[in-house]
Amino acid sequence: MSYKNILIDREGSLATLTINRPNKLNALNKATISELHQAFDDLDKDHDVAVIILIGSGDKAFVAGADISEFADFSVKEGKQLAQDGQDLLFNFIENLSKPVIAAVNGFALGGGLELAMACHFRVASDNAKMGLPEVSLGVIPGYGGTQRLPQLVGKGRAMELIMTAGMISSERALEYGLVNHVVAQEELLPLCKKIAGRISNNSPVAISYAIKAINAGFKNDKNGYAQEIKAFGNCFGTADFKEGTTAFLEKRKADFPGA
Ligand code: COA
Repeated sequence: MSYKNILIDREGSLATLTINRPNKLNALNKATISELHQAFDDLDKDHDVAVIILIGSGDKAFVAGADISEFADFSVKEGKQLAQDGQDLLFNFIENLSKPVIAAVNGFALGGGLELAMACHFRVASDNAKMGLPEVSLGVIPGYGGTQRLPQLVGKGRAMELIMTAGMISSERALEYGLVNHVVAQEELLPLCKKIAGRISNNSPVAISYAIKAINAGFKNDKNGYAQEIKAFGNCFGTADFKEGTTAFLEKRKADFPGA
């Protein structure tokens, strides 16, 4: 499938998805959200893909937000629909993907851009990155999960301050807050993400997908994370990956997971 606003690069079991609207600082318009949904769906179903890295094109921005030009004259009804569609199609979709998604935050991650990075399973940033949720400066609030995921990641007080001030924080501050896991020079960003991806891909894809589910369940009010963990833990015992992982350990060799 060919895309207008994104690029997909494949290297073995690693897929790198690049949001490619550099002239608009990779702002998320409707078409880009729809293309990202399609691409994530395809990669999730592809047995040969183990890890996905998401990055913005150029060296200035990951994503500078939702495309303001698209919603400036929306009604209340259209505003609700915009948030609902975005959450369903992309933000919750990524969070619940069975494959790990790493956000490589290579510059501005503002508004919908930071929300997108937060929907990924974890984040690595370049040292020039700037992050924030400036929506209240536009008279609106974060609508792609930002009011929920930011407090989960950095704590309620810090999230309140960041959202109320509409301020931006540096990647160093984001590291201190736990919003990103690592900060490196821009040229080292993709190599580090790929190194982490390589380490992930040595492990059981099925067990990883269950771990994602169990961890996510703990952050949902309508789910019991411990119950989800017990169910997923039990399910692992019925997988070929578990058989291979335990057999390989007992035979003192490296596991070669079938991913089933
Ligand atoms: N939506 C639509 N277009 C955007 C955008 C967004 N969120 N962010 C940047 N752009 C566009 C600009 O309009 C400009 O387009 P143009 O050249 O056709 O005029 C282009 O990207 C470059 O941005 P510019 O503002 O000229 O770059 P800058 O280096 O001066 O400033 C930012 C960078 C990130 C500080 C600034 O672009 C900005 O504040 N963007 C909006 C951030 C925001 O509020 N996001 C939350 C949206 S809910």
